[in-house]
Parts: sequence; structure tokens; C-alpha cells
Amino acid sequence: MPDNLDQKAREILRANDKGGFTIPTAGLYPYQWNWDSVLVALGFATFDEARACAEIETLFEAQWEDGLVPHIVFRRNDPDYFPGPDVWQAGESMPTSGITQPPVAATVVHELWSRSDDSAIKVRMLALFPKLLAWHRWFHRYRVPDGVGAAVITHPWESGRDNSPEWDHPASAVDVSGVTPYERRDLQHADAAMRPTKLDYDRYIAMVEFGRNTGWDHEAIATRGPFRVADVGMTMILLRASRDLMRLAEELGDTEAMAELQGYVNQLEQGADYLWDDSIQAYCSRDVITGRHSGYITSGSFLFAYAGVGSATQRAAMSRHWDRISASCRYMCPSHDPDDVLFDADRYWRGPVWLVVNYMLARGFSESGLDDWARRITEDSRELIREHGFYEAFNPQAGTGTGGEEFSWTAAMWLAWLRPAAEKARELAS
Ligand code: DGY
Repeated sequence: MPDNLDQKAREILRANDKGGFTIPTAGLYPYQWNWDSVLVALGFATFDEARACAEIETLFEAQWEDGLVPHIVFRRNDPDYFPGPDVWQAGESMPTSGITQPPVAATVVHELWSRSDDSAIKVRMLALFPKLLAWHRWFHRYRVPDGVGAAVITHPWESGRDNSPEWDHPASAVDVSGVTPYERRDLQHADAAMRPTKLDYDRYIAMVEFGRNTGWDHEAIATRGPFRVADVGMTMILLRASRDLMRLAEELGDTEAMAELQGYVNQLEQGADYLWDDSIQAYCSRDVITGRHSGYITSGSFLFAYAGVGSATQRAAMSRHWDRISASCRYMCPSHDPDDVLFDADRYWRGPVWLVVNYMLARGFSESGLDDWARRITEDSRELIREHGFYEAFNPQAGTGTGGEEFSWTAAMWLAWLRPAAEKARELAS
């Protein structure tokens, strides 16, 4: 019943709204997460544009002096989450984590700015431009090394795709022998079979402790950190966001920023080629310490269209992977290649479908004329919500929900993208 789903989605956003910022879901994630908040703003914008602006503005209140926008903002202490602010010991204007997350913000700000008819909303969105530019500069200062050109993550949590098999091999070099004993809290709220393993967590905490021991010195983390991987998802999202930020710079008539951003775009386009793995004929993440490709195709690999990269030959090769994967999965797009032995249909980013990634994929596909792919992914996503509800993620074969329930960004995807009214608005706008 679409009407009820619209209402339910709005109720989820309101229930998770903690006053200017939204938590992803109660219990499992009780704070403000970076890319969750930004994508959730798209949902708020369908019924309260001012509230959508506030979601992004509150995230940027936690921006560091050097431009970093942290992956978690701890506005109040919640002992139910680990690792909390006392473990991170980071943040400037307020307690935060010490790492970042995929920079979808410029793309969403551009979207909210271009769709709004309200001049006050437009002004608020354009006012974020200097902050967005500072964040992109931060990436190019610390995370886009010369000769690589792709965006490097220094912790799997930065990718937002926490336990993707792409991180297994690079993280195996992380020494976990000195990790301070800890108690996981996530398993009180979610099924262990749907969460990262104990070994994953030991490595996550070892990497947090490494960063904390440097005093969150990002120069040191970028040059000496134990985990440095050029992430296909982060790179494609940053590249797309840089193009959208350039559009905002153009609107502002800021030719200097436009030139600077064009330089970033050129670098990241080269970075996409750094990520191209000839042996499997696909974009995939790559360890910058060893130069080793992960060799894994993930949903992030298909973000090439969203980022606007790929020669005709590269796109034809990606198309063969799409055909293979879409023939074997009931619901597209699994987060990990279903033909790989590490595929796990219920375990977080090792198989389940995530609707926020699907949203970006569908956008990229329709902009690239890959209409059948866009249609497939849109219809599958819509059916997942209709049949199973607003889960964190979904099993790509059974469609059943995985992880947390009443999830903010899944509700936002319904409102902004999947409900029939949203589709109609998009068709009219294009
Ligand atoms: C978690 O706690 O599982 C988060 O994904 C970290 O960002």
C-alpha cells in the first residue's frame, strides 16, 4: 500500500530525528553518521526542506579546522554503542570519530539546491559551498596520493562498506596483539550472523588505536598507517561529488574554485584507471601499500557510471559482469560478487543489497543510457521495501531484511526515489 508506506517512511524519519540530526536506527547506531545523515536529507526534502538543510548543516558543525568531516558525531554519550567518544578521543567543536566517510554531501547539496523553488533553501545550500570545498581539499591533501589519484581509506569504516571482502587481505597486516580488551555492543542489537566477525572488530579497534596514538595526525596516518587502500566506492563517490561541487562553483561564479575542482576531477579520473584490474576486467579496490588489487567485484565497482568514467571497452567488460550477476541474483545489486566464495547473503557488506548504493547506481545508469539496468535496480529496490519493510539491508536472494529495522536511510530512499510519486517527479524533471 504505497500511501501507508509513504506515511511509515515519514514516521521512521521523525522517530529517528533527535533534533536537527537523525540517527540511522535506534540501538545499533545511536549517533549522527556522516553519509547516513546526508542521504537522509533527501528523504526529509520531500516533506520539509528546511529540516533537510538542518540535517546537513548540523553534520558540518562538527567539521574539523583542517576540513575533515568526521564519520560519527557524538552529540551525547550513549553507553550502548562501542566504540564511543571516550575511545576515539577526537573532535574539535564537539566529540567525533577521527575518520571520515564517503563524501556524498556535495552531490546531495547540489540536488537539494537545484530542486528547490524556495530562495531561502537555495541560499542555505550555497552557504555550505566553502565547507564542502574544504572537505574536498582535505581529501586531496591527505587521501589522494600522487601516482595513485584514487581516494584512499585508512580504516574500513571510512568506506561505509565496513566488512567488504576487499578489506580482508590489507587488514590482515594490522597487528591486533596490543588491542585494549573491549566489549562489542552491536551484537546486543543485531544477529551476529549479519555483523562483522571478532577478527574484523579486533582490526577495527587496532586501527582506531593507531590513529588515536598519533593524536589523529592525518599526515602520519596517511603515510604510516597500517591500512591504506584505494577504495573503489569512495573514489567514484568523490569523483561524482567533485563534478557536482563544480556545478555549485559555477552557480556562484567562482572561477578559481572551478579550476581547482577541475584539477581534482582530472586526478580522480586517473585514479579510476589505477583501480582498473586487467586480470578480472573490472574496477576494484587496491591496496596502496602493496599495490595489490583486491580482485573482487562489489556493488561499488558498478558506480563507474555514477562517477562518469570508463572507456567503451571498460564499460563493455563491466556489462558482462552485470549480466552474469543479475542473472544469478533475485534482487540487484548484491554488495559482493555472488560467484565468489566469500559471498554471504546475510552478512552486512559481504552480500546484502543496500538501497543507498542502489540509488546511486540507478542514477548513474539512467544518466549513462543504461535504462534497463536502472529499471531493474529501481523495481527490485521498490519490491524489497514493499515485501519486507525498511531494513538496513536485504538478502539478495530471499529478499529478507538484514541488520537493523526502521532504518532512516532506507525510509529516505523510499520517499526520495522509490515511491511512485518520486518517480513521476523525476520523469518530469528529466
Ligand atoms: C558500526 O559501528 O558498525 C559502524 O558501521 C561504524 O561506522
